[in-house]
Amino acid sequence: MIPELFCAPLAEITTPALRYLIRKFSSKVMLHTEMISSAALLNGGQFNQSKTIIHDFDHPVGFQLLGTNAQIMARAAKELLKQNPYSIDINMGCSAPDIRKRGAGSYLLKDYDNVAKIVQGVRDSCDCRVSVKMRAGITESSAEFVIKYLKLFNDYGIDYVTLHPRNAHEGFRHTASRKLFTEIKNQSPIQLIYNGDISETTEAVDLIRDFNNKIMIGRAAAVKPWIFGQIDNRINGKNNLIIDLAECTEIFIEKIHQFLPSKIQTLRSLRFFGYFCNNFRFGHNLFSAIKKKESVSEMGKVIFDYLQRHPEERTFNM
Ligand SMILES: Cc1cc2nc3c(=O)[nH]c(=O)nc-3n(C[C@H](O)[C@H](O)[C@H](O)COP(=O)(O)O)c2cc1C
Repeated sequence: MIPELFCAPLAEITTPALRYLIRKFSSKVMLHTEMISSAALLNGGQFNQSKTIIHDFDHPVGFQLLGTNAQIMARAAKELLKQNPYSIDINMGCSAPDIRKRGAGSYLLKDYDNVAKIVQGVRDSCDCRVSVKMRAGITESSAEFVIKYLKLFNDYGIDYVTLHPRNAHEGFRHTASRKLFTEIKNQSPIQLIYNGDISETTEAVDLIRDFNNKIMIGRAAAVKPWIFGQIDNRINGKNNLIIDLAECTEIFIEKIHQFLPSKIQTLRSLRFFGYFCNNFRFGHNLFSAIKKKESVSEMGKVIFDYLQRHPEERTFNM
């Protein structure tokens, strides 16, 4: 059975530290690593190692592969299998300008024949599940465009597809179209996961329970690493979670030090705190202060000092 809840791959954000924190609240959510460049993996690219290690707490977890060349992606996928992932996901969803410039991520969808080679290559080289994460078009979104690909993925034995119903050129503008997703889901030959703009537990629960969807959450997981635990609890009628922001910060910092090479600890922490600071009433000022710090421990101290001054913000019930 494919899980109901997925945490999206987020470059520079879904580090082992954030994954650990998310897992503390939810044993069920299916996690993803940061995307991994196939070529860099095969060339032994610097800092790739921390992305390609799966830890005991991670399972179930998927790797996400980025690339444009079927043979290279198939070889990279085979390499990643040694870590025993739940799945290998092929990135056809990322719309960041530097990724698009390389013809990768969502821009792969411009070339149907190359996509066919990639899914065939990765599928044939993997004995775990293979999934695709895609957008709904290049400059326009359409059901027809997506369905053509879904048929291809189904023919090549892809296990499931996550659809972010925006097109590649939209980036994060406009809102993800849940109407388009439903239209496509009703015709889809393959299991479809919904992704896009879920920020609240209640809407996640509605999407799962009332509309029978499986869902993937990205940015909100960096703001609220407990969101999946809270969704689990709501669905299963369990008690609310007690969230302690100081404890979350402490765990994140400990795990950043434990799992990441020292050269990228500060940058990755900064990326996370950019989202996490939304939990504080004066989060904007807090993040400005964090940005000035040169070490992760100093960043943490800014948050701990803030919580000493605003103890009423430290814990809450979700
Ligand atoms: C900082 C950041 C990094 C991302 N990195 C990736 C990535 O590596 N691979 C990918 O397929 N999508 C990536 N995305 C897109 C997300 O996985 C997701 O599809 C998107 O954020 C929509 O979901 P959300 O509204 O729940 O955040 C990224 C998005 C953000 C904001």
